Amino acid sequence: MGRSRASYYSILKQINKVANSALSLKKICNSIAKSAAKAVQANGCRILSFNPQKEYLITIGAYGLSDIYLKKGPLDVHKSLPDILDGKVVFIANAAKDERVQYPKVALAQGISSILGIPVLEKGEAIGEIRIYTREPRQFSEADRSFLLSVADICAVIFERAELHQLLEQDYKASEKRRKSSRVSSLPATTLRPTSFAHPSEEDFAKLLDFYCIEWLYEPRSFPLRWEGDKIAEMFTPDFYLPELDLYIELTTLKQNLLTEKNRKLRQLRALYPEVNIRLLNKSDFLKLLAKYGYGPLGEAKVEGVDRVLYSHAKIQRRVRTLARHISRDYTGQRLVLVGILKGVVCFMADLMQHLSLPVTLDFMAISYYGSDGQVVKITRDLDSSITGQHVLMVEDIVDTGMTLNYILSHLSAHNPASLRVCTLLDKRARRLVNVPLDYVGFEVPDEFVVGYGLDYKGEYRNLPFIGILHPELIKGTKPR
Ligand code: PRP
Repeated sequence: MGRSRASYYSILKQINKVANSALSLKKICNSIAKSAAKAVQANGCRILSFNPQKEYLITIGAYGLSDIYLKKGPLDVHKSLPDILDGKVVFIANAAKDERVQYPKVALAQGISSILGIPVLEKGEAIGEIRIYTREPRQFSEADRSFLLSVADICAVIFERAELHQLLEQDYKASEKRRKSSRVSSLPATTLRPTSFAHPSEEDFAKLLDFYCIEWLYEPRSFPLRWEGDKIAEMFTPDFYLPELDLYIELTTLKQNLLTEKNRKLRQLRALYPEVNIRLLNKSDFLKLLAKYGYGPLGEAKVEGVDRVLYSHAKIQRRVRTLARHISRDYTGQRLVLVGILKGVVCFMADLMQHLSLPVTLDFMAISYYGSDGQVVKITRDLDSSITGQHVLMVEDIVDTGMTLNYILSHLSAHNPASLRVCTLLDKRARRLVNVPLDYVGFEVPDEFVVGYGLDYKGEYRNLPFIGILHPELIKGTKPR
């Protein structure tokens, strides 16, 4: 027997009251999860938000679910009830057997039968979810669904408010920092990060990861280490999971007694879960680790002069692989000459060509600029081999005004290649003076001074493994590029 409209109305009133209270975001969501589960006579509920990249789900509040179920591993938005991402309500009748459930075995072990997923929408776009869980298989009525959609609307407002609060706080902290030093880096504005850290060092680590645009999840999985009969007697929950590196991280202080205990747990975890990649890190270790994975040059914490990272190493690599796939597909069965303009293109060219599944040859040109405004292009190094009758792909690191590319394209066309196309990693469209055709584009960049991954400022920064934005103070009066 479902509830009456009047009874749903009075529950919504209570939920609204909690949503408007001064409680923390977590407490508000825990309370809403409890009210929602009870209202629809379910056994559990959780309220989730998407991470900034919309790849993972982060639990903000929950009710009636075991710790082992809540921390069963990272929840991937594309694998776990994926249709919610498109704003749809999703009903799973049998969680143990449905391929839209990411961890069906855990659902079976924890006795979860049905799941109802409701999108939390902001201006029509999903930003999170409410999930309702039942032990007995059951259906949900139209009234249940419409009640939960109203709860989701309340959650959307709560999320938006928390995000605004977080942004204001970040902005305040960043302006305070700038006031103290004009060359200190500030953090990029992110979307909601509703994490309450157990320790300040964890928050520092998260900030460092944010600076390098490395995606992270806080405590997404608990690993049972010891059982007494059927019951779990000991568990271990690593602090972070870095999905791009498939790596769990446990941070540690240098207190010897804690270190010994953590080492023991890690040994046990590795023995029980040999496929899991986990590292115990102290502060100096994690800087070294970032360097190892190509995130910080020479293990420095932050790069002097770089205001923020625009594209991480991993993101660039993913995009380069996609571009290479498209190029390989378009030129199937043909040979290709890649032509690069020195020097900015070196990193991009080196990575791109390794992922092309075609026979390719390479050639390079060098140019200089002259004239009072530096806008006249002169070739200082021409091609080594003839391109007449060949398929040519011009590879560029960045197209800015388009003057360089325009000049080079007309120069190359004069040699009558069979075809001539352009692939650029970055497209700074906002500063375009000449219309040039771009066939493959990695990223469209904002009108700011970008460095790294081959791009320089006064000859430096080319060796950074990521692309960052230079601090405005550093480049005052310099022509952006
Ligand atoms: C960059 C880039 C392009 C050019 C694009 O070279 O490699 O060739 O600028 O600018 P435009 O669209 O305004 O013509 P840069 O002059 O910085 O030399 P580099 O490659 O040696 O870094």
